[in-house]
Amino acid sequence: MILEIITLGDPVLRRKCPPVEIIDGSVAQLAAAMIETMHAADGIGLAAPQVGVSLQVAVVDVPPMEGEAGLFCLDGVDKDPAAFMPLVMVNPILEMGTEKESQSEGCLSIPEVRGNVLRPFAVIARYTALDGSRHLLECDGLLARAIQHEVDHLNGILFIDRMSAAAKLRIRRALRDLAREPARYRYTPGPAQGG
Ligand code: NI
Repeated sequence: MILEIITLGDPVLRRKCPPVEIIDGSVAQLAAAMIETMHAADGIGLAAPQVGVSLQVAVVDVPPMEGEAGLFCLDGVDKDPAAFMPLVMVNPILEMGTEKESQSEGCLSIPEVRGNVLRPFAVIARYTALDGSRHLLECDGLLARAIQHEVDHLNGILFIDRMSAAAKLRIRRALRDLAREPARYRYTPGPAQGG
């Protein structure tokens, strides 16, 4: 089921999500609908508050990086990331790497807006899967960035919060235009990928 994507201005995006206590069928259903919604919107990630649900559930589906194999070490073993996408993360907790990188980001909840965000290049994510199993994933590059972006959502943080003051100034008009739109807006797929 394709869900409505909540856009900037709705307070649900600013709330810190409580953890999932019991992973039951309703959580699996939510994750399945989030994956469908993310794919329909051409996104590479989606967090539960973006579909109006304040719970620590995030999904990511990051295509393999061209020409270079990114780090994808699951529970201590190097794996092919393609075999694990889309990835559902319940109650994720991140440990950030020290090396940082600035890259352009977008967000399905902030249509038409993109900007550079400085983030750690690599992360270690601890999360629970839908079957209740606990995992530790070490990854880098775009996947690490997407995971950080989605975990930020679970904490009520948006990528625009992490942009430099100068970069924020450049998107001021776009944000103002967006604020005039209805709070709920159907995302139009475009070349810009977000999460
Ligand atoms: Ni986002």
